[in-house]
Amino acid sequence: MQVTVVGSGYVGLVAATCFAETGNDVVGVDIDKHKVDQLSKGISIIYEPGLDELLARNIAEKRLRFTTDIKNAILSAEVIFIAVGTPPGEDGSADLQYVLGVAKQIGHHMNNYKVVVNKSTVPVGTAQTVQATIQAELDKRKAVTSFDVISNPEFLKEGSAIDDFMKPDRIVIGGSSEKALSLMKKLYASFLRTDNRIYVMDNKSAEVTKYAANAMLATKISFMNEMAALCDKVGANIDQVRFGIGSDDRIGKKFLFPGIGYGGSCFPKDVKALVQTGHENGLNMKILEAVEDVNDRQKKVLFDRIQQHFNHKLSGKTIAVWGLAFKPRTDDMREAPSIEMINLLLEAGVSVKAYDPVAVDSAKRIWGNAVTFGEEPYGVLRGADALLIHTEWNEFRSPNFETIKSSLNAPVIFDGRNLYDPVDMMEIGFTYRSIGRAS
Ligand SMILES: NC(=O)c1ccc[n+]([C@@H]2O[C@H](COP(=O)([O-])OP(=O)(O)OC[C@H]3O[C@@H](n4cnc5c(N)ncnc54)[C@H](O)[C@@H]3O)[C@@H](O)[C@H]2O)c1
Repeated sequence: MQVTVVGSGYVGLVAATCFAETGNDVVGVDIDKHKVDQLSKGISIIYEPGLDELLARNIAEKRLRFTTDIKNAILSAEVIFIAVGTPPGEDGSADLQYVLGVAKQIGHHMNNYKVVVNKSTVPVGTAQTVQATIQAELDKRKAVTSFDVISNPEFLKEGSAIDDFMKPDRIVIGGSSEKALSLMKKLYASFLRTDNRIYVMDNKSAEVTKYAANAMLATKISFMNEMAALCDKVGANIDQVRFGIGSDDRIGKKFLFPGIGYGGSCFPKDVKALVQTGHENGLNMKILEAVEDVNDRQKKVLFDRIQQHFNHKLSGKTIAVWGLAFKPRTDDMREAPSIEMINLLLEAGVSVKAYDPVAVDSAKRIWGNAVTFGEEPYGVLRGADALLIHTEWNEFRSPNFETIKSSLNAPVIFDGRNLYDPVDMMEIGFTYRSIGRAS
Protein backbone atom coordinates (compact mmCIF):
# COMPACT_ATOMS: atom_id res chain seq x y z
CA MET A 1 0.00 0.00 0.00
CA GLN A 2 1.17 3.58 -0.65
CA VAL A 3 1.33 5.21 2.78
CA THR A 4 2.29 8.76 3.70
CA VAL A 5 2.94 9.74 7.31
CA VAL A 6 3.02 13.47 7.97
CA GLY A 7 5.16 14.29 11.03
CA SER A 8 8.33 12.28 11.70
CA GLY A 9 8.55 12.59 15.49
CA TYR A 10 8.21 9.85 18.11
CA VAL A 11 4.91 8.59 16.71
CA GLY A 12 5.20 9.38 13.00
CA LEU A 13 8.71 7.98 12.67
CA VAL A 14 7.84 4.74 14.44
CA ALA A 15 4.59 4.33 12.46
CA ALA A 16 6.30 5.04 9.13
CA THR A 17 9.13 2.62 9.88
CA CYS A 18 6.81 -0.17 11.04
CA PHE A 19 4.48 0.23 8.06
CA ALA A 20 7.54 -0.03 5.80
CA GLU A 21 8.78 -3.08 7.72
CA THR A 22 5.55 -4.89 6.82
CA GLY A 23 6.11 -4.25 3.10
CA ASN A 24 4.30 -0.99 2.40
CA ASP A 25 5.77 1.80 0.32
CA VAL A 26 6.07 4.61 2.86
CA VAL A 27 6.94 8.30 2.69
CA GLY A 28 7.63 10.16 5.94
CA VAL A 29 7.11 13.93 5.72
CA ASP A 30 8.39 16.60 8.09
CA ILE A 31 8.81 20.36 7.93
CA ASP A 32 12.12 20.11 9.79
CA LYS A 33 14.73 19.83 7.02
CA HIS A 34 17.51 18.80 9.39
CA LYS A 35 15.38 15.91 10.67
CA VAL A 36 14.53 14.82 7.14
CA ASP A 37 18.21 14.95 6.09
CA GLN A 38 19.29 12.87 9.08
CA LEU A 39 16.49 10.35 8.65
CA SER A 40 17.21 10.03 4.94
CA LYS A 41 20.73 8.93 5.88
CA GLY A 42 19.23 6.34 8.24
CA ILE A 43 20.19 8.32 11.35
CA SER A 44 17.41 8.30 13.91
CA ILE A 45 16.68 11.62 15.54
CA ILE A 46 15.28 10.03 18.68
CA TYR A 47 16.43 7.24 20.99
CA GLU A 48 14.03 4.33 20.72
CA PRO A 49 15.21 0.73 21.23
CA GLY A 50 15.19 -1.26 17.97
CA LEU A 51 14.42 1.74 15.77
CA ASP A 52 17.87 2.30 14.22
CA GLU A 53 18.05 -1.17 12.73
CA LEU A 54 14.54 -1.08 11.22
CA LEU A 55 15.09 2.41 9.90
CA ALA A 56 18.35 1.52 8.18
CA ARG A 57 16.96 -1.70 6.70
CA ASN A 58 13.80 -0.17 5.27
CA ILE A 59 15.64 2.82 3.80
CA ALA A 60 18.21 0.48 2.22
CA GLU A 61 15.45 -1.71 0.80
CA LYS A 62 13.74 1.41 -0.58
CA ARG A 63 10.42 0.93 1.16
CA LEU A 64 10.92 4.03 3.28
CA ARG A 65 11.99 7.55 2.43
CA PHE A 66 11.73 10.97 4.05
CA THR A 67 10.95 14.30 2.48
CA THR A 68 9.84 17.87 3.13
CA ASP A 69 7.85 17.77 -0.12
CA ILE A 70 4.34 17.24 1.19
CA LYS A 71 2.71 17.81 -2.20
CA ASN A 72 4.18 14.75 -3.87
CA ALA A 73 3.78 12.71 -0.71
CA ILE A 74 0.04 13.50 -0.81
CA LEU A 75 -0.33 12.84 -4.53
CA SER A 76 1.23 9.37 -4.29
CA ALA A 77 -0.63 8.21 -1.16
CA GLU A 78 -3.61 5.93 -0.73
CA VAL A 79 -3.57 6.50 3.03
CA ILE A 80 -2.26 9.67 4.71
CA PHE A 81 -1.53 9.63 8.43
CA ILE A 82 -1.44 12.92 10.33
CA ALA A 83 1.07 12.41 13.17
CA VAL A 84 2.08 15.95 14.07
CA GLY A 85 2.20 17.42 17.57
CA THR A 86 -0.86 18.61 19.51
CA PRO A 87 0.77 20.64 22.29
CA PRO A 88 -1.26 22.34 24.99
CA GLY A 89 -2.55 25.81 24.21
CA GLU A 90 -2.71 28.55 26.86
CA ASP A 91 -5.98 27.26 28.34
CA GLY A 92 -4.77 23.62 28.37
CA SER A 93 -6.80 22.59 25.31
CA ALA A 94 -4.94 20.79 22.51
CA ASP A 95 -3.51 23.22 19.97
CA LEU A 96 -4.74 21.95 16.61
CA GLN A 97 -2.84 24.37 14.40
CA TYR A 98 -0.41 21.71 13.14
CA VAL A 99 -3.09 19.10 12.49
CA LEU A 100 -5.34 21.55 10.66
CA GLY A 101 -2.36 22.98 8.78
CA VAL A 102 -1.70 19.51 7.40
CA ALA A 103 -5.42 19.00 6.64
CA LYS A 104 -5.36 22.22 4.62
CA GLN A 105 -2.40 21.03 2.60
CA ILE A 106 -4.08 17.70 1.97
CA GLY A 107 -7.16 19.49 0.62
CA HIS A 108 -4.95 21.77 -1.42
CA HIS A 109 -3.10 18.96 -3.21
CA MET A 110 -5.46 15.97 -3.15
CA ASN A 111 -6.02 14.52 -6.62
CA ASN A 112 -8.02 11.34 -6.01
CA TYR A 113 -9.65 9.28 -3.24
CA LYS A 114 -7.58 9.15 -0.05
CA VAL A 115 -8.09 7.91 3.45
CA VAL A 116 -6.90 10.62 5.84
CA VAL A 117 -6.06 9.24 9.28
CA ASN A 118 -5.80 11.27 12.48
CA LYS A 119 -3.08 9.50 14.44
CA SER A 120 -2.23 12.54 16.54
CA THR A 121 -4.06 12.70 19.86
CA VAL A 122 -6.89 15.10 19.11
CA PRO A 123 -9.95 16.33 21.02
CA VAL A 124 -13.37 14.92 20.33
CA GLY A 125 -14.85 16.41 17.17
CA THR A 126 -11.51 16.89 15.39
CA ALA A 127 -12.28 14.29 12.68
CA GLN A 128 -15.23 16.47 11.65
CA THR A 129 -13.04 19.60 11.69
CA VAL A 130 -10.38 17.88 9.58
CA GLN A 131 -13.10 16.72 7.15
CA ALA A 132 -14.46 20.28 6.86
CA THR A 133 -10.98 21.79 6.47
CA ILE A 134 -10.08 19.43 3.61
CA GLN A 135 -13.46 19.94 1.95
CA ALA A 136 -13.12 23.75 2.16
CA GLU A 137 -9.76 23.56 0.34
CA LEU A 138 -11.22 21.28 -2.33
CA ASP A 139 -14.15 23.68 -2.78
CA LYS A 140 -11.77 26.63 -3.12
CA ARG A 141 -10.12 25.08 -6.13
CA LYS A 142 -13.38 23.53 -7.36
CA ALA A 143 -11.85 20.07 -7.17
CA VAL A 144 -14.15 17.09 -6.97
CA THR A 145 -12.73 14.06 -5.22
CA SER A 146 -13.99 11.96 -2.36
CA PHE A 147 -12.06 11.15 0.80
CA ASP A 148 -12.70 9.75 4.28
CA VAL A 149 -11.36 10.79 7.65
CA ILE A 150 -10.52 8.01 10.08
CA SER A 151 -9.57 8.41 13.74
CA ASN A 152 -6.80 6.01 14.68
CA PRO A 153 -5.23 7.11 17.96
CA GLU A 154 -1.83 5.72 18.86
CA PHE A 155 -1.16 3.84 22.10
CA LEU A 156 2.57 3.12 21.78
CA LYS A 157 4.79 3.73 24.79
CA GLU A 158 8.11 5.51 24.35
CA GLY A 159 10.87 3.08 25.27
CA SER A 160 9.00 0.10 23.77
CA ALA A 161 7.42 1.89 20.82
CA ILE A 162 8.55 -0.54 18.12
CA ASP A 163 7.31 -3.56 20.06
CA ASP A 164 4.04 -1.84 20.87
CA PHE A 165 3.51 -0.90 17.24
CA MET A 166 4.48 -4.28 15.82
CA LYS A 167 2.45 -6.20 18.45
CA PRO A 168 -0.32 -3.83 19.48
CA ASP A 169 -2.65 -4.72 22.35
CA ARG A 170 -5.40 -2.96 20.40
CA ILE A 171 -5.99 -0.93 17.26
CA VAL A 172 -8.78 1.59 17.65
CA ILE A 173 -10.33 2.72 14.39
CA GLY A 174 -13.03 5.36 14.34
CA GLY A 175 -15.03 5.95 11.20
CA SER A 176 -18.06 4.84 9.24
CA SER A 177 -16.97 4.48 5.59
CA GLU A 178 -16.76 0.76 4.72
CA LYS A 179 -14.19 1.52 2.03
CA ALA A 180 -11.88 3.35 4.45
CA LEU A 181 -12.38 0.83 7.24
CA SER A 182 -11.51 -2.03 4.95
CA LEU A 183 -8.29 -0.27 3.82
CA MET A 184 -7.34 0.31 7.45
CA LYS A 185 -7.99 -3.32 8.37
CA LYS A 186 -5.84 -4.42 5.44
CA LEU A 187 -3.01 -2.11 6.48
CA TYR A 188 -3.03 -3.36 10.07
CA ALA A 189 -3.60 -7.05 9.26
CA SER A 190 0.15 -7.83 9.33
CA PHE A 191 0.36 -6.63 12.94
CA LEU A 192 -2.60 -8.76 14.07
CA ARG A 193 -1.81 -12.23 12.79
CA THR A 194 -2.45 -14.09 16.06
CA ASP A 195 -5.61 -12.39 17.14
CA ASN A 196 -7.88 -9.68 15.77
CA ARG A 197 -7.62 -6.80 18.20
CA ILE A 198 -9.22 -4.11 16.05
CA TYR A 199 -11.97 -2.12 17.71
CA VAL A 200 -14.07 -0.27 15.16
CA MET A 201 -16.18 2.57 16.50
CA ASP A 202 -17.39 6.02 15.54
CA ASN A 203 -14.83 8.84 15.23
CA LYS A 204 -15.84 10.59 18.44
CA SER A 205 -15.60 7.45 20.56
CA ALA A 206 -12.14 6.74 19.14
CA GLU A 207 -11.04 10.28 19.98
CA VAL A 208 -12.35 10.01 23.54
CA THR A 209 -10.82 6.52 23.96
CA LYS A 210 -7.29 7.87 23.59
CA TYR A 211 -7.76 10.60 26.19
CA ALA A 212 -9.63 8.25 28.53
CA ALA A 213 -6.74 5.75 28.37
CA ASN A 214 -4.11 8.33 29.28
CA ALA A 215 -6.33 9.94 31.90
CA MET A 216 -6.95 6.55 33.55
CA LEU A 217 -3.21 5.82 33.66
CA ALA A 218 -2.42 9.27 35.08
CA THR A 219 -5.17 8.70 37.67
CA LYS A 220 -3.56 5.42 38.75
CA ILE A 221 -0.24 7.21 39.24
CA SER A 222 -1.72 10.08 41.24
CA PHE A 223 -3.80 7.65 43.31
CA MET A 224 -0.70 5.67 44.27
CA ASN A 225 1.24 8.84 44.96
CA GLU A 226 -1.52 9.98 47.31
CA MET A 227 -1.47 6.59 49.07
CA ALA A 228 2.33 6.89 49.32
CA ALA A 229 1.97 10.32 50.95
CA LEU A 230 -0.39 8.78 53.51
CA CYS A 231 2.02 5.88 54.10
CA ASP A 232 4.76 8.40 54.80
CA LYS A 233 2.58 10.17 57.35
CA VAL A 234 1.42 7.07 59.20
CA GLY A 235 4.57 4.94 58.98
CA ALA A 236 3.23 2.35 56.50
CA ASN A 237 5.05 0.95 53.48
CA ILE A 238 3.56 1.64 50.03
CA ASP A 239 5.32 -1.44 48.55
CA GLN A 240 3.40 -3.72 50.91
CA VAL A 241 0.19 -1.85 50.11
CA ARG A 242 0.91 -2.15 46.39
CA PHE A 243 1.30 -5.94 46.61
CA GLY A 244 -1.75 -6.13 48.82
CA ILE A 245 -4.05 -4.35 46.39
CA GLY A 246 -2.44 -5.48 43.12
CA SER A 247 -3.23 -9.12 43.78
CA ASP A 248 -6.90 -8.26 43.30
CA ASP A 249 -7.62 -8.94 39.61
CA ARG A 250 -10.05 -6.05 39.49
CA ILE A 251 -7.18 -3.69 40.38
CA GLY A 252 -4.24 -5.44 38.70
CA LYS A 253 -0.52 -5.28 39.45
CA LYS A 254 0.58 -2.92 36.70
CA PHE A 255 1.13 0.81 36.92
CA LEU A 256 0.87 0.93 40.71
CA PHE A 257 4.30 2.38 41.37
CA PRO A 258 4.52 5.64 43.29
CA GLY A 259 7.23 8.08 42.25
CA ILE A 260 7.98 11.71 41.60
CA GLY A 261 4.89 12.40 39.51
CA TYR A 262 3.96 11.64 35.93
CA GLY A 263 5.60 13.54 33.08
CA GLY A 264 6.36 13.05 29.41
CA SER A 265 4.85 14.42 26.26
CA CYS A 266 1.41 12.81 26.76
CA PHE A 267 -0.07 12.45 30.26
CA PRO A 268 0.30 16.08 31.41
CA LYS A 269 -1.03 17.59 28.19
CA ASP A 270 -3.75 14.99 27.65
CA VAL A 271 -5.13 15.28 31.18
CA LYS A 272 -5.20 19.08 30.78
CA ALA A 273 -6.89 18.83 27.39
CA LEU A 274 -9.56 16.46 28.71
CA VAL A 275 -10.30 18.77 31.65
CA GLN A 276 -10.68 21.58 29.13
CA THR A 277 -12.97 19.51 26.89
CA GLY A 278 -15.13 18.91 29.96
CA HIS A 279 -15.27 22.65 30.70
CA GLU A 280 -16.18 23.44 27.10
CA ASN A 281 -19.07 21.05 27.50
CA GLY A 282 -20.23 22.36 30.88
CA LEU A 283 -18.72 19.48 32.86
CA ASN A 284 -16.30 19.81 35.76
CA MET A 285 -13.80 16.97 35.46
CA LYS A 286 -13.35 16.74 39.23
CA ILE A 287 -11.31 13.55 39.33
CA LEU A 288 -8.86 14.75 36.69
CA GLU A 289 -8.44 18.14 38.32
CA ALA A 290 -7.48 16.32 41.52
CA VAL A 291 -5.14 14.05 39.54
CA GLU A 292 -3.29 17.15 38.32
CA ASP A 293 -3.16 18.71 41.79
CA VAL A 294 -1.71 15.56 43.31
CA ASN A 295 0.83 15.36 40.50
CA ASP A 296 1.94 18.97 41.03
CA ARG A 297 2.39 18.28 44.75
CA GLN A 298 4.25 15.04 44.08
CA LYS A 299 6.86 16.70 41.88
CA LYS A 300 8.01 18.70 44.92
CA VAL A 301 8.00 15.94 47.55
CA LEU A 302 11.67 15.05 47.23
CA PHE A 303 12.72 18.69 47.07
CA ASP A 304 11.03 19.26 50.45
CA ARG A 305 12.90 16.24 51.86
CA ILE A 306 16.20 17.52 50.52
CA GLN A 307 15.55 20.91 52.12
CA GLN A 308 14.71 19.28 55.45
CA HIS A 309 17.81 17.11 55.31
CA PHE A 310 20.05 20.12 54.81
CA ASN A 311 18.16 22.29 57.34
CA HIS A 312 16.99 24.57 54.53
CA LYS A 313 20.60 25.53 53.80
CA LEU A 314 20.99 24.34 50.24
CA SER A 315 23.09 27.14 48.84
CA GLY A 316 26.61 25.95 48.05
CA LYS A 317 25.70 22.24 48.17
CA THR A 318 26.32 19.87 45.27
CA ILE A 319 23.78 17.24 44.30
CA ALA A 320 24.42 14.37 41.91
CA VAL A 321 21.46 13.32 39.77
CA TRP A 322 20.93 9.91 38.18
CA GLY A 323 18.31 9.93 35.43
CA LEU A 324 16.83 12.89 33.59
CA ALA A 325 14.36 11.44 31.05
CA PHE A 326 10.76 11.14 32.21
CA LYS A 327 11.09 7.36 32.11
CA PRO A 328 13.73 4.77 31.15
CA ARG A 329 14.55 3.76 27.57
CA THR A 330 13.81 7.18 26.08
CA ASP A 331 15.65 10.45 25.57
CA ASP A 332 12.39 12.40 25.78
CA MET A 333 12.64 15.22 28.32
CA ARG A 334 9.23 16.77 27.62
CA GLU A 335 7.60 17.57 30.98
CA ALA A 336 10.07 15.29 32.79
CA PRO A 337 9.68 15.70 36.58
CA SER A 338 13.47 16.14 36.72
CA ILE A 339 13.03 19.56 35.09
CA GLU A 340 11.07 21.09 37.94
CA MET A 341 13.23 19.42 40.56
CA ILE A 342 16.53 20.54 39.03
CA ASN A 343 15.20 24.06 38.50
CA LEU A 344 14.23 24.23 42.19
CA LEU A 345 17.71 23.04 43.18
CA LEU A 346 19.42 25.55 40.89
CA GLU A 347 17.24 28.38 42.25
CA ALA A 348 18.25 27.35 45.77
CA GLY A 349 21.93 27.75 44.84
CA VAL A 350 22.76 24.04 44.46
CA SER A 351 25.34 22.82 41.93
CA VAL A 352 23.84 19.94 39.95
CA LYS A 353 25.93 17.18 38.35
CA ALA A 354 23.77 14.89 36.25
CA TYR A 355 24.02 11.60 34.40
CA ASP A 356 21.53 9.90 32.10
CA PRO A 357 22.37 7.04 29.69
CA VAL A 358 20.68 8.68 26.67
CA ALA A 359 18.93 11.97 27.55
CA VAL A 360 21.97 14.22 28.07
CA ASP A 361 21.74 15.87 24.64
CA SER A 362 18.06 16.70 25.19
CA ALA A 363 18.88 17.92 28.71
CA LYS A 364 21.66 20.18 27.44
CA ARG A 365 19.06 21.99 25.35
CA ILE A 366 17.23 22.83 28.60
CA TRP A 367 20.04 23.74 30.98
CA GLY A 368 23.12 24.37 28.84
CA ASN A 369 26.03 24.98 31.20
CA ALA A 370 23.85 25.52 34.27
CA VAL A 371 24.11 21.78 34.96
CA THR A 372 27.32 19.72 34.73
CA PHE A 373 26.75 16.52 32.76
CA GLY A 374 28.77 13.36 33.31
CA GLU A 375 29.42 10.48 30.97
CA GLU A 376 29.10 7.72 33.53
CA PRO A 377 27.08 7.37 36.73
CA TYR A 378 29.87 7.20 39.31
CA GLY A 379 31.76 10.19 37.91
CA VAL A 380 29.02 12.66 38.90
CA LEU A 381 29.08 11.46 42.52
CA ARG A 382 32.55 12.72 43.32
CA GLY A 383 32.35 15.61 45.78
CA ALA A 384 28.53 15.64 45.84
CA ASP A 385 26.60 16.00 49.11
CA ALA A 386 23.84 13.60 48.06
CA LEU A 387 22.58 11.46 45.19
CA LEU A 388 19.11 12.05 43.78
CA ILE A 389 17.46 9.44 41.52
CA HIS A 390 14.83 10.54 38.99
CA THR A 391 14.60 7.74 36.41
CA GLU A 392 14.51 3.98 37.01
CA TRP A 393 17.07 2.98 34.38
CA ASN A 394 18.05 -0.69 34.82
CA GLU A 395 21.69 0.24 35.35
CA PHE A 396 20.76 2.06 38.59
CA ARG A 397 18.99 -0.94 40.12
CA SER A 398 21.98 -2.75 41.51
CA PRO A 399 24.87 -0.29 41.71
CA ASN A 400 28.11 -0.59 43.66
CA PHE A 401 27.07 0.99 46.94
CA GLU A 402 30.65 1.03 48.27
CA THR A 403 31.73 3.18 45.31
CA ILE A 404 28.73 5.45 45.85
CA LYS A 405 29.61 5.81 49.52
CA SER A 406 33.26 6.52 48.93
CA SER A 407 32.51 9.05 46.17
CA LEU A 408 29.86 11.13 47.94
CA ASN A 409 30.78 13.60 50.68
CA ALA A 410 28.18 11.83 52.84
CA PRO A 411 26.18 8.63 52.21
CA VAL A 412 22.82 10.22 51.39
CA ILE A 413 20.38 9.08 48.68
CA PHE A 414 17.02 10.60 47.74
CA ASP A 415 15.28 8.01 45.58
CA GLY A 416 12.26 9.11 43.55
CA ARG A 417 11.74 5.61 42.16
CA ASN A 418 12.00 3.32 45.21
CA LEU A 419 14.82 1.31 43.65
CA TYR A 420 16.37 0.00 46.87
CA ASP A 421 15.25 -1.66 50.08
CA PRO A 422 15.17 0.89 52.92
CA VAL A 423 16.30 -1.69 55.51
CA ASP A 424 19.26 -2.82 53.37
CA MET A 425 20.22 0.79 52.83
CA MET A 426 20.17 1.52 56.54
CA GLU A 427 22.28 -1.56 57.24
CA ILE A 428 24.96 -0.48 54.78
CA GLY A 429 25.07 2.96 56.30
CA PHE A 430 23.06 5.19 54.00
CA THR A 431 20.62 7.91 54.88
CA TYR A 432 18.00 6.86 52.39
CA ARG A 433 14.76 8.67 51.61
CA SER A 434 12.30 7.20 49.12
CA ILE A 435 8.57 7.55 48.41
CA GLY A 436 5.92 6.20 50.79
CA ARG A 437 8.23 3.94 52.76
CA ALA A 438 8.80 5.60 56.13
CA SER A 439 12.51 4.96 56.58
N1 LIG B 1 5.14 10.50 21.98
C1 LIG B 1 4.30 9.55 22.35
O1 LIG B 1 4.63 8.67 23.14
C2 LIG B 1 2.88 9.53 21.83
C3 LIG B 1 2.11 8.37 22.00
C4 LIG B 1 0.81 8.36 21.48
C5 LIG B 1 0.29 9.48 20.87
N2 LIG B 1 1.07 10.60 20.73
C6 LIG B 1 0.50 11.75 20.01
O2 LIG B 1 1.03 11.76 18.69
C7 LIG B 1 1.20 13.11 18.23
C8 LIG B 1 2.64 13.34 17.83
O3 LIG B 1 3.46 13.18 18.99
P1 LIG B 1 5.03 13.05 18.90
O4 LIG B 1 5.52 12.75 20.27
O5 LIG B 1 5.38 12.15 17.78
O6 LIG B 1 5.42 14.56 18.50
P2 LIG B 1 6.83 15.10 17.99
O7 LIG B 1 6.88 16.50 18.45
O8 LIG B 1 7.91 14.16 18.38
O9 LIG B 1 6.70 15.04 16.39
C9 LIG B 1 5.89 15.87 15.65
C10 LIG B 1 6.59 16.12 14.31
O10 LIG B 1 5.69 16.78 13.41
C11 LIG B 1 6.44 17.69 12.65
N3 LIG B 1 5.52 18.65 12.02
C12 LIG B 1 4.85 19.69 12.60
N4 LIG B 1 4.10 20.32 11.67
C13 LIG B 1 4.27 19.66 10.51
C14 LIG B 1 3.75 19.84 9.19
N5 LIG B 1 2.90 20.80 8.90
N6 LIG B 1 4.16 18.99 8.23
C15 LIG B 1 5.03 18.00 8.51
N7 LIG B 1 5.55 17.79 9.74
C16 LIG B 1 5.18 18.61 10.73
C17 LIG B 1 7.43 18.26 13.63
O11 LIG B 1 8.53 18.87 12.97
C18 LIG B 1 7.81 17.01 14.41
O12 LIG B 1 8.92 16.36 13.85
C19 LIG B 1 0.72 13.99 19.37
O13 LIG B 1 -0.63 14.32 19.18
C20 LIG B 1 0.87 13.10 20.59
O14 LIG B 1 -0.01 13.45 21.64
C21 LIG B 1 2.35 10.64 21.18
